[in-house]
Amino acid sequence: MEPKTYFIRTYGCQMNELDTEIMAGQLEKRGLIPSLKEENADLLIFNTCSIRDLAERKVMGKLGRIGRGQKNHAIIGVTGCMAMAKKDALFRKFPHLDFVMGTNNITELGAIVDEVLYTKRPVFKTDDHFEENLDYLVAKRDNKMKAHVSIIRGCDKFCTYCVVPYTRGQEVSRPPESILEECRRLVDAGYKEITLLGQNVNSYGKDKPEWNCLFHDLLYQIDKIPGMQRIRFMTSHPIDITVELMQAIRDLPSLCEFVHFPIQAGSSRILKKMHRIYTKEQYLEKVGLLREHVPNVSLGTDIIVGFPTETEEEFLETYEVMKQIRYSVAFIYAYSPRKGTPAMRWKDDIPEEVKQDRLQRLLDLQNEIANEERQTLLGQTFEVLVERHNKDGKMLKGRTRCWKKVIFEGGEDLIGTLQQVKVHSYGHQTFIGELASPLNPLSLTSG
Ligand code: SAH
Ligand code: SF4
Ligand code: F3S
Repeated sequence: MEPKTYFIRTYGCQMNELDTEIMAGQLEKRGLIPSLKEENADLLIFNTCSIRDLAERKVMGKLGRIGRGQKNHAIIGVTGCMAMAKKDALFRKFPHLDFVMGTNNITELGAIVDEVLYTKRPVFKTDDHFEENLDYLVAKRDNKMKAHVSIIRGCDKFCTYCVVPYTRGQEVSRPPESILEECRRLVDAGYKEITLLGQNVNSYGKDKPEWNCLFHDLLYQIDKIPGMQRIRFMTSHPIDITVELMQAIRDLPSLCEFVHFPIQAGSSRILKKMHRIYTKEQYLEKVGLLREHVPNVSLGTDIIVGFPTETEEEFLETYEVMKQIRYSVAFIYAYSPRKGTPAMRWKDDIPEEVKQDRLQRLLDLQNEIANEERQTLLGQTFEVLVERHNKDGKMLKGRTRCWKKVIFEGGEDLIGTLQQVKVHSYGHQTFIGELASPLNPLSLTSG
């Protein structure tokens, strides 16, 4: 029977969130409507993540529970990175699944659902390569102010610990005209902030030299779109952060001064083993150069502790680098061996307690750094994109260009606008402030 309602549960990163929006758009085009509850949906999709063992275990647990008698008449499918990592093995473990669809096949969702309906047999499609034929404009976005826009899919970097090159395939850039068209439409529809997405946004265009459009070229074009207020990008690989990109961040009014600059480890020996293709010294030099170009830039990072053979001294190098760089945001993970990656060759020899201890020491350090950073920000005025009311319904809530959450008092009419807010205190991971007098433009900083 043709499904009438759908529910998609999303795990993992922004890439998956965007793929969910694209799948939802395709289903709604077909006439399906969203179901508020998972158990009532005629079509239930799990858009999964494989990045660490825990991410996979969460989905496996969920699929197992659904198998125990809850199936009803729903069509159940698994999409996303776990579909690519586990492929048809998923059917053997969960015989109640109707389809497994890989990350490079999301345009085929409708055809796959049809095949399930007509053949009443499990359907399996996981291509290794992405064909650039996706109708991105179909994406169904719940947020009316901030949108994710995909500019490049896949990853060619092959860090030795990471599944993404296998679950997302080779890098494929999206044509600039298609990106610009989507951005224009989003601005016309009232969107205020666009985040350009890719596993490595700054590799953009390298696979298509004939386009003559690298990442910074694309940024200049997007910034020119009339009415464009804020551009962000996620995520970048340090090796591809170029001087041209630094100049773009310095010069383009809509481009936010926040760069995710994931170091992963502070020891050059571990970086080499991770195949990150930069040394600690090269990384530090690049951060220095970026800060010379954009003194008020905020940096984010990802770090893995307990990579095979990491010694205490090598871990302390990571600790020292964090202390030196002072990131605004740090995501810190314990190494998790992934099947099919080169790092599986090496024994996962750092005991779990040691990994957890290193993780905790970095979290404590990051907390300290964030506290100190906060003190220096109090009293300053920031541009805030006002997104909605705070939970209590009284205050307004938004984010600065550098991703800091801010609440302040103001009228509903400010929602969806950029405001200057002077922050005076901090609580519950949020700055508290008040609207700055528009008569005092000298107090403005971008932070
Ligand atoms: N393309 C992004 C990363 C996507 S994965 C980038 O290169 O920045 C997000 C983060 O998960 C990685 O940066 C890394 O820190 C972490 N990660 C990836 N594989 C991992 C693994 N096997 N164990 C622990 N953390 C991992
Ligand atoms: Fe994974 Fe490395 Fe690619 Fe990032 S750059 S997605 S960590 S392989
Ligand atoms: Fe997970 Fe795939 Fe994203 S493995 S982090 S959903 S690219």
